[in-house]
Amino acid sequence: MVKGFLFDLDGVIVDTAVFHFQAWRRLAQKLGGDFTEAQNEQLKGVSRVDSLKKILEWTGATISDEEFQALMELKNEWYLELVIQLSAKDGLPGAVDFLHQAKAQGIGIALGSASKNAPLILDKMNLLPLFDAIIDGNNVVNGKPHPEVFLKGAEALGLAPAECIVFEDSIAGVQAAKSGGMTCVGIGTPDILGGADLYFNALGETSPEELLRAL
Ligand code: BG6
Ligand code: MG
Repeated sequence: MVKGFLFDLDGVIVDTAVFHFQAWRRLAQKLGGDFTEAQNEQLKGVSRVDSLKKILEWTGATISDEEFQALMELKNEWYLELVIQLSAKDGLPGAVDFLHQAKAQGIGIALGSASKNAPLILDKMNLLPLFDAIIDGNNVVNGKPHPEVFLKGAEALGLAPAECIVFEDSIAGVQAAKSGGMTCVGIGTPDILGGADLYFNALGETSPEELLRAL
């Protein structure tokens, strides 16, 4: 029986996945390269460090450890310039309503995000009070596709992985959920985001009640 929902943040609750893409692309261009929207699927859900490693691979740039740190900070500055504009109305279609409905039904709610900016974003959107637990990039050693972030989320809710549904928009995140033993709802389409148990384009296409009935 499902008793808990574990939500990814960027690209599931709020449209920040596009901000990450813009900021990383700006960085790749600064390094004399670029990457496509299709390649960007490989960055979704992936930690800041691992994302920069991938971009260096794609651009063929070699840099020192100091430059690596400086570039991560620069990307984050550019990303935060975009995030700063966020407000409570910027949830993805139906996402905030879905969270409220789940809360009203007594379902445990945890965040399972790779982002170190997650608390800031949830605060800007006034969503912090809805979460029973927040596990983010500040609390994990292993990034997605490792299941640590979701296993810690389930544990924080006092639930077994099999009692939880993960909501994910990234390939790495779906892999993390499935290898953690959770049911996974993909936010996206199966052609791009394989491996989930069912799919919606946005949380607004379903409701907690309907999901619990379907699963
Ligand atoms: C994930 C995003 O949620 O967080 C990734 O999908 C991002 O694109 C990762 O790299 C880390 O985020 P941040 O905000 O700590 O740089
Ligand atoms: Mg995401």
